Amino acid sequence: MTMDTISILFLLFLPFLCFLFILLPFLSSSSSRSRSNQAGKSTIGLPPGSMGYPYVGETFQLYSDNPINFFADRQNKYGPIFKTHILGCPCIMVSSPEAAKFVLVTKAALFKPTFPASKERMLGPQAIFFQQGDYHARLRRLLLRAFMPEATRGKVAGVEHLAVSALSSWDGHTIDTYQQMKIYAFNVALLSIFGKDEMLHVEELKKCYYTLEKGYNSMPINLPGTLFHKSMRARRQLGQIVADILSSRRRQRNAVASDLLASFMDPKEALTDAQIADNIIGVIFAARDTTASVLTWIVKYLKENPSVLRAVTEEQMEIIKLKEEGAEDKSLTWADTKRMPFTCRVIQETMRVASILSFTFREAVEDVDYQGYLIPKGWKVLPLFRNIHHCAHNFSDPEKFDPSRFEVAPKPNTFMPFGSGTHACPGNELAKLEMLVLLHHLTTKYRWSLLASDTGIEFGPFALPSNGLPIKISLKTTMN
Ligand code: HEM
Ligand SMILES: *[C@@H]1O[C@H](CO)[C@@H](O)[C@H](O)[C@H]1NC(C)=O
Repeated sequence: MTMDTISILFLLFLPFLCFLFILLPFLSSSSSRSRSNQAGKSTIGLPPGSMGYPYVGETFQLYSDNPINFFADRQNKYGPIFKTHILGCPCIMVSSPEAAKFVLVTKAALFKPTFPASKERMLGPQAIFFQQGDYHARLRRLLLRAFMPEATRGKVAGVEHLAVSALSSWDGHTIDTYQQMKIYAFNVALLSIFGKDEMLHVEELKKCYYTLEKGYNSMPINLPGTLFHKSMRARRQLGQIVADILSSRRRQRNAVASDLLASFMDPKEALTDAQIADNIIGVIFAARDTTASVLTWIVKYLKENPSVLRAVTEEQMEIIKLKEEGAEDKSLTWADTKRMPFTCRVIQETMRVASILSFTFREAVEDVDYQGYLIPKGWKVLPLFRNIHHCAHNFSDPEKFDPSRFEVAPKPNTFMPFGSGTHACPGNELAKLEMLVLLHHLTTKYRWSLLASDTGIEFGPFALPSNGLPIKISLKTTMN
């Protein structure tokens, strides 16, 4: 072989080597230890499916195709429960509403949440996502207290202020929709966590969070100079900032705040500063990119479906007209947000078609029998939300964007954009509120055009329109 062939071969394999490095945290977790000792013990068999090549399994198939086709093809071939081997882990994928309910709700105690160790370290090991049992239930109660409808209704004015200033900063510009929606969703998350008084700390916190984010998908090699190393340092700084905010709050004792921080600081709960910091950073992580992705898809679907955009705009104009009758105060109220049924269906249909979280991960804590199939201890179990949301049997013409299908409530367990069961999204009320408020001002005051005719999807890891959906946006009155 000449030098050239060797270097070409090397180049060909470089992505592959990188791949293995990125996946090392997955590989080192519990995957292989339980595989060998299962077969003999049980009389029931594994679900159908291919485990692919040794070690790498079907990982290449997953990434060479788009993940959507990967899951859909296998479901067609094997049915709603099948096995595969990706990212170094043997997996069982489930794509029927019943099986998803079994894993997430009915037998949730047998399926624990699972993340790569490096991600856990980066977010904070005591954050809610990684927990089960009593500590999880406690954190969940505190989150729900801060995000339940009665608490969320007090946030309308603050959220509206953020939406109005985001939109006016875009006026007349070409923007990367996703990047801008991330800034908006970040601000809403921070408002709901800290209230209005922490502005000084919040700017610092944002800076550190951006650094953390840059290294989130990097190779988990903790050596000076690596992105991962910088991320971990930013993570320690974030912990310190939260600790500073906590001590300044403790000093001004009489403040009766209704935000998430106050809920976490309840003396009866006796959470440590580290526990609070891990969960604050975790909530930012859970709240920002998810909401921003859904908003980005809505902007795209509205533009591509003019009759839907017209109907949303009419519904929103109606709310403005009702106010003009008398009131001096033109700002939105909680009651207004309950008068947006069509806009709500647009949000639902967007979450169904785009299914930004295509699936979630669990791990079986013991051997489980599901309808005569063995789910071995230690295997990953992936409920495939996207497949469930795109099932032609329950959603006719599933690729079509048609909000009217939600005029009838979907059948049980066929629609779970916010998950289901013990780990279902506690932020869903806030997410809906911030989307409605932004859409109110967007559709009544602005017009926009899509710059790219490109219809591609990126996964980063959430499904997103290519390049974050560049648009040109301006106030209605200033454009022809
Ligand atoms: C449209 C936006 C959003 C979507 C589609 C979404 C979706 C989800 C889903 C599917 C889960 C469950 C994951 C699983 O079972 O593995 C989840 C969990 C979670 N979400 Fe959201 N979410 C959104 C916005 C938010 C917001 C705004 C917040 C906070 C204010 C939030 C906080 C959380 C937290 C803390 C969890 C973990 C709950 C637990 O483990 O018990 N999310 N979200
Ligand atoms: C459609 O929904 C029903 C009700 O939840 C469920 O029993 C059925 O399995 C679903 N159909 C498919 C093909 O997933």
